[in-house]
Amino acid sequence: MFLVTPIARAILDAGVFSWDLGLTLINLVTPRRKVDHVTPAGHPGEGGKWPEYIAPKEGDSRCSCPGLNAMANHGILPRDGKNISFPELYSTVRGTYNFSPSFCFYVANFAARMLNKSYGKDRIDLADIDLHSDKGIEHDASLTREDIHFVKDQGKPHLPFVRELLDAASGKDTEGNMLFTAADVSRVLSKRRAESRANNPEFHMNLSHRTFSSSNSSTILTIFGSRVSDLESIFIEERLPEGWESRIREPFGLTIASLQPTVLKVAFGIDERPYAAEASSTAAAESGEPNPAT
Ligand code: HEM
Ligand SMILES: *[C@@H]1O[C@H](CO)[C@@H](O)[C@H](O)[C@H]1NC(C)=O
Ligand SMILES: *[C@@H]1O[C@H](CO)[C@@H](O)[C@H](O)[C@H]1NC(C)=O
Ligand SMILES: *[C@@H]1O[C@H](CO)[C@@H](O)[C@H](O)[C@H]1NC(C)=O
Ligand SMILES: *[C@@H]1O[C@H](CO)[C@@H](O)[C@H](O)[C@H]1NC(C)=O
Repeated sequence: MFLVTPIARAILDAGVFSWDLGLTLINLVTPRRKVDHVTPAGHPGEGGKWPEYIAPKEGDSRCSCPGLNAMANHGILPRDGKNISFPELYSTVRGTYNFSPSFCFYVANFAARMLNKSYGKDRIDLADIDLHSDKGIEHDASLTREDIHFVKDQGKPHLPFVRELLDAASGKDTEGNMLFTAADVSRVLSKRRAESRANNPEFHMNLSHRTFSSSNSSTILTIFGSRVSDLESIFIEERLPEGWESRIREPFGLTIASLQPTVLKVAFGIDERPYAAEASSTAAAESGEPNPAT
C-alpha cells in the first residue's frame, strides 16, 4: 500500500508541472525530429517497422485504453497484458508515441496513485486500469467503449461506435485524405454523452472524468495527426499501421502544457443539446415506454 499525503501530492504535481513547462519551452527552440525518424533508434517501431501484431487471445488482459492495448498487441508491452511495472509504462509510452517525459511520468504516477500502488515496486495488469467511476478514471460515454453498465469487460472496442466516430471526420488534407477537426471530436463526444445520459441508468461523469475524456480524445488530433486512415487501424484493431510514427516531432515530445489548447478546444465544443431529444426518444423506443417528448 502506498499512501501519499495531499501535501506530498501537491509538491509532486507542482514539480511535474514545472518540469513540463521547461520541456515545453525547450521544444519551442529545438529543431523537430525529421519525418520518418520520430521513433527513437533502438526502440520498437524504428523506421516505421512495428513488431508483429497479434490480436489478443482469450485470457490476455486488456483495458479501455486503445493506446496501451496497441502496445501489448505489438509486444511492446507483454502480449498477455500482465505484470507490467509503472516505469515500463513510462518508457514504452514515451518511445512509442513521443509523449514528453513529464507527461509519461504524470500518467503512470497518476495510475499508480489511483490503484494505491507503489510506482517503483508494484506491477499491474492492463485491466486493473479500468477502475470505474468515482473510484477511478474509467468513465461513461467513451468514444470507443460501451458504458460499463452494459459491458463489464472494457478491453474491446465497440465497433459501431468506432465506425460512427470514423465517419464523423469532416476535414481533408491537400492530398484529399480525410482528417478529424476538433469540432468533429466535440460533436461525437456530445452525442455519446447525450446517449449515455438517456440510456444508462447509472450514467455518471464528474468534472475530472469530463476533463480526462477531452484530454484522451485530443490524442486523435495530436499524437495520431487527425488522420482517419491511421485511426481506422488504431481504433478497430488496436494496431499501429505499418510505417506509422507519432505525428509529434518535437524532441521532448507532447507535453501536458502543449496539449491543453487542443483539450480546451474540444471541451468547449461539447454541447449535448442537439442530441438530447433524439437520444431520449431512442431510449424510450427501446424500453417500449411512450416518449414524453412527442
Ligand atoms: C500510462 C499511460 C496511460 C494510461 C494510464 C491511460 C489510461 C486510459 C484510460 C483509463 C482510458 C479510459 C477512459 C475512458 O473511460 O474512456 C483511456 C482512454 C484513452 N486513451 Fe489512454 N492511457 C494511457 C496512455 C495513452 C496513450 C499513450 C494514448 C495514445 C497515444 C492513449 C489514448 C487514449 C485514447 C484515444 C482514449 C479514449 C478511448 C475512448 O474514448 O474510447 N492513452 N486511457
Ligand atoms: C512479474 O515480474 C517480476 C519481475 O520480472 C517477476 O519477478 C515476477 O515473478 C512476475 N510475476 C508473475 C506473476 O509472473
Ligand atoms: C485506495 O485507498 C483508499 C484510502 O485508503 C480507499 O478509499 C480506496 O478504495 C483504495 N482504492 C483501491 C483501488 O484499492
Ligand atoms: C471524480 O471522481 C474521481 C474518482 O474517479 C475522484 O478522485 C475525484 O475527486 C472526483 N472529482 C470531482 C471533481 O468530483
Ligand atoms: C487518458 O485518461 C486517463 C484517465 O481516464 C489518464 O490517466 C490518462 O493520462 C489520459 N491520457 C491522455 C493522453 O490524456
